[in-house]
Amino acid sequence: MSDSVDGYLQDCKTHIEQRLPDLFLSGESEFATGGDASALARLNEACLYSLTNGGKRVRATLVYATAAALRQPQREGLDYLAGAVEMLHAYSLVHDDLPAMDDDDLRRGKPTCHIAFDEATAILVGDALQCRAFELLTELQGDPARQVAVISALAAAAGPRGMVGGQAIDLAAVNTQVDLATLKQMHQLKTGALIRGAILMAAHWCGASLAQRRTLDNYGLAIGLAFQVQDDILDIESHTDVLGKTQGADLARNKPTYPALLSLEGAKAMADNLHQYAIGALAEFGREADPLRKLADYIVARTH
Ligand code: IPE
Ligand code: IPE
Ligand code: MG
Ligand code: MG
Ligand code: MG
Repeated sequence: MSDSVDGYLQDCKTHIEQRLPDLFLSGESEFATGGDASALARLNEACLYSLTNGGKRVRATLVYATAAALRQPQREGLDYLAGAVEMLHAYSLVHDDLPAMDDDDLRRGKPTCHIAFDEATAILVGDALQCRAFELLTELQGDPARQVAVISALAAAAGPRGMVGGQAIDLAAVNTQVDLATLKQMHQLKTGALIRGAILMAAHWCGASLAQRRTLDNYGLAIGLAFQVQDDILDIESHTDVLGKTQGADLARNKPTYPALLSLEGAKAMADNLHQYAIGALAEFGREADPLRKLADYIVARTH
């Protein structure tokens, strides 16, 4: 791993990108050859298209950075956690882009899964990525109690009290006026929960104390919300070719966003406050938490 923190973030991204195809495909020769091989091969191709097509890999990097903050950067199994959270996230994007949801045709600079393949395949890709994420975590070797805590953290982050719940609020809120409390809850669930989940998974796997988990979770709550506030800001300020997704999509679909409720300046001030809060939450950690600090900086400074 590189000495500089910026290099560290890039190293984590490069590392998980190299590992993702294997993590998805491992133990799967029967799947690729049994039954109607062409249908299964196409499903596999669509899964890999959606999983390995770029992406900033923030959630995977949070896994590694949390382990680093707990002084366990080499703990075995971290790639499984990072892979699982990226699979879960890729599934959420594939479904988020479907015509019945945000109806987007560009993702990570390429046609969305349902455009490149078809809608039914995109639904199955989401199902497959989600199942494989959890299966991968069952393949972890180590303390079973920690393993269950990891699986439970991902399930809670992804499910009805996490990402899926947030998506339900998001869809119900289109073309309506939501108040700030609802918007905050929606953002914390649809996006914040999985970011928080990535941190908690790593904390459990590294055997963090309850006090350490609380501290890390406070950081995660703040950067998770900041991540979606910045996503809303970029929908206005960035450009389609930089974003890799269609700029202005929220406005076009009348989505409730922080800039819509607070103005662009208000949303930026909120992102800054959340950033400061996240950095403050890490005060009791030393230099070992620098990757987490740098990630907080990146999340509110990013342009895509
Ligand atoms: C996009 O997430 C969807 C949100 C939760 C805002 P990212 O911005 O992390 O997307 P990728 O993985 O880098 O493409
Ligand atoms: C997505 O929020 C949250 C998910 C669970 C995927 P958005 O709908 O704002 O994400 P983008 O802008 O399409 O990436
Ligand atoms: Mg959406
Ligand atoms: Mg969307
Ligand atoms: Mg968005």
